[in-house]
Amino acid sequence: MPKLTIRQWPLPIETGKRTILDAALDRGVPFPHGCRTGECGACKCLLLSGDVTMKNYDSGALTESEKSAGFVLACRAKPRADVHVAWLGGTVAVELPVRRLRAQITNIEQVSPIIKRLYLWPEEPLQFAAGQFARLRFADLPARSYSMANAPGDEVLEFHIRLIPGGQASEHIDSHLKVGDEVHIEGPYGSAHLRPEDDSPLVLVAGSSGLAPAKSIVRTALHSQPERRVHLYFGVRSEAHVYDEPELKVLASRYKNLRIDTVLSEPGGKTSRRTGNLAEVVSNDLESHRSAQFYMAGPPEMVNAVSKAVTEFGIHREQIHADPFHVTSTDSAGEEPPRNFNKLLEGMRGLLTIGRLRTPKARESFSPAKALQERAEVESRERPIANAADTPDDDSQRRMN
Ligand SMILES: Cc1cc2nc3c(=O)[nH]c(=O)nc-3n(C[C@H](O)[C@H](O)[C@H](O)COP(=O)(O)OP(=O)(O)OC[C@H]3O[C@@H](n4cnc5c(N)ncnc54)[C@H](O)[C@@H]3O)c2cc1C
Ligand code: FES
Repeated sequence: MPKLTIRQWPLPIETGKRTILDAALDRGVPFPHGCRTGECGACKCLLLSGDVTMKNYDSGALTESEKSAGFVLACRAKPRADVHVAWLGGTVAVELPVRRLRAQITNIEQVSPIIKRLYLWPEEPLQFAAGQFARLRFADLPARSYSMANAPGDEVLEFHIRLIPGGQASEHIDSHLKVGDEVHIEGPYGSAHLRPEDDSPLVLVAGSSGLAPAKSIVRTALHSQPERRVHLYFGVRSEAHVYDEPELKVLASRYKNLRIDTVLSEPGGKTSRRTGNLAEVVSNDLESHRSAQFYMAGPPEMVNAVSKAVTEFGIHREQIHADPFHVTSTDSAGEEPPRNFNKLLEGMRGLLTIGRLRTPKARESFSPAKALQERAEVESRERPIANAADTPDDDSQRRMN
């Protein structure tokens, strides 16, 4: 039976017929991962020795040149013989329990010509780390990945959905979804999340609805580390596509160490904003970001171009955490959720809502108002454990109105 050795883990693992990722997760190894379907690239690792077969995957998640350089996707790679791998990134991804929850739509806003913002009230709090995503299932459609834009601990979940013409979920959200509808949530997933142990400067590069995870990270980081230097690049096509600026300006006026650059790729006239290709704009500033941790989210081409520019400048791969918004090519609604463990929760107390974990309720009809009342009653009896429910600002109430 093939044996798997992971550079960052002390013991070898029998893989059987499983993928590297499945074998590692089954043994409680916090192997970085996201989609588990070969689309996001979060489980990319270096094959130091041995041989694997690869199930099909998205070429954006693992390029031909990466493949020739010896990289494989752990979620797709099955060892043929003993293998030795090393995952990328100097820090360990947090593993939180994946939950399957029902939620109700509490508000829908058209925030730009191509983006809708959804607010969801989950039947139980969804514990996640800033930057992670969940899979949402609308009506009987296949699940789609969307990143949380709110800070961990907020009662209401916020998502920014870019409406893809002809896209199944996009069409449903644009034409049929209404306040009060039920949505199924599965998550959290993803390793491009804020690392609790780190305090180096942060650079966030967000393209279009990639602002969602960036916003969650900015708010969470500044809440726990108000002095931390944060630079957010928000790339959109034109002035009409800029959104959430008032909220970002409030944050920037509160934290002088937060700099926000909105970059227009097609300004179509005179503007005081930075303009051009997002990768080039970020490249021009890289000298001042040498020690930063980079978080990137949005269209895969944008994320790949910025990652390339950053690594070519000589910044280490370990400093880059990327969530390219790859297209969901398969219906994974019936997929099993990963087996999870809670190993790294201890270090996350400042960022997560640990004190709010509860046993899931029976699947009876779900009402946000009733849930809120029950929660308030329970909380008045419990002593809260340190959590991030004291959010950086008090948006969550406003969102319910
Ligand atoms: C980890 C992760 C996090 C994500 N987070 C977000 C998020 O926060 N906000 C967000 O808006 N999106 C996000 N996405 C992308 C989102 O999941 C897809 O855009 C979504 O699956 C499209 O679903 P659909 O059913 O509308 O389109 P589909 O029915 O899946 O696609 C229909 C057609 O549109 C094309 N298409 C689909 N998606 C895209 C796209 N993104 N760009 C260009 N063409 C596309 C397909 O190739 C296909 O031809 C994320 C993706 C991943 C992997
Ligand atoms: S590509 Fe393997 S977890 Fe996403």
